[in-house]
Amino acid sequence: MRIFAANWKLHKNPKETRAFFADFKKIFSLNSGDQVVIFPQAICLESAVECTSGTSIGVGIQNVYFEPKGAFTGENSAQSAKDVGVQWVLIGHSERRTLFGEVDHSLAKKVSHVQSLGIHPMLCIGETLDQREKGETNHILRHQLVQGLSLAEKTKPLAIAYEPVWAIGTGRVATADQVRETHLEVRKILTELGFSSATPILYGGSVKKDNAKELILIPHVNGFLVGGASLEPQSFWDICNA
Ligand code: PGA
Repeated sequence: MRIFAANWKLHKNPKETRAFFADFKKIFSLNSGDQVVIFPQAICLESAVECTSGTSIGVGIQNVYFEPKGAFTGENSAQSAKDVGVQWVLIGHSERRTLFGEVDHSLAKKVSHVQSLGIHPMLCIGETLDQREKGETNHILRHQLVQGLSLAEKTKPLAIAYEPVWAIGTGRVATADQVRETHLEVRKILTELGFSSATPILYGGSVKKDNAKELILIPHVNGFLVGGASLEPQSFWDICNA
């Protein structure tokens, strides 16, 4: 399965969400086996689910808590997200890790909680520029995978998004060689940990129409997680269509 995912971050209100889908549905058509998933901010999920009903476009939430309910002010419940029609959950995006202090052991609980509800976690991993320059990339990715997947069930749905932190929102995309080497390494680690060779590994970080064509042909690149270039229907569709 190839997955083309749009991470809208804190962009688009419900009205803008509906306007996006009105246009996107006019141009969208998908090969069987491919999946498009949109991650809007939580307050737009119901609009997104409504707009995509009857289509194969999936909707995901950008973060959840690992408990289904309780005294956790400000958090989002994965069960409630599922109840409104969400099928995917982004876990451990680098902005969550760096700006909101998310750590591997709580991400592991989130992956496990989301899997237990029968919806799909997408665990994000990636090294900083400093770590890459020091030659620590593989070590960091291994650590993030071992920790983040420590409570995951091998037989349940799972996707990984590899996003070098230095390529997110910077316009600086990893080279084809860097992506080839790193995706192969991520696949090796997943296999060592006992996860299926069908587990999709997405690439993310300044993906645009112009680089999508080259990147999607690289072995073990099973789709993209797209930020900036996913906000405009035609620009996102050009990437899905690459
Ligand atoms: P970008 O964001 O495509 O704007 O680099 C990717 C992401 O943060 O998932």
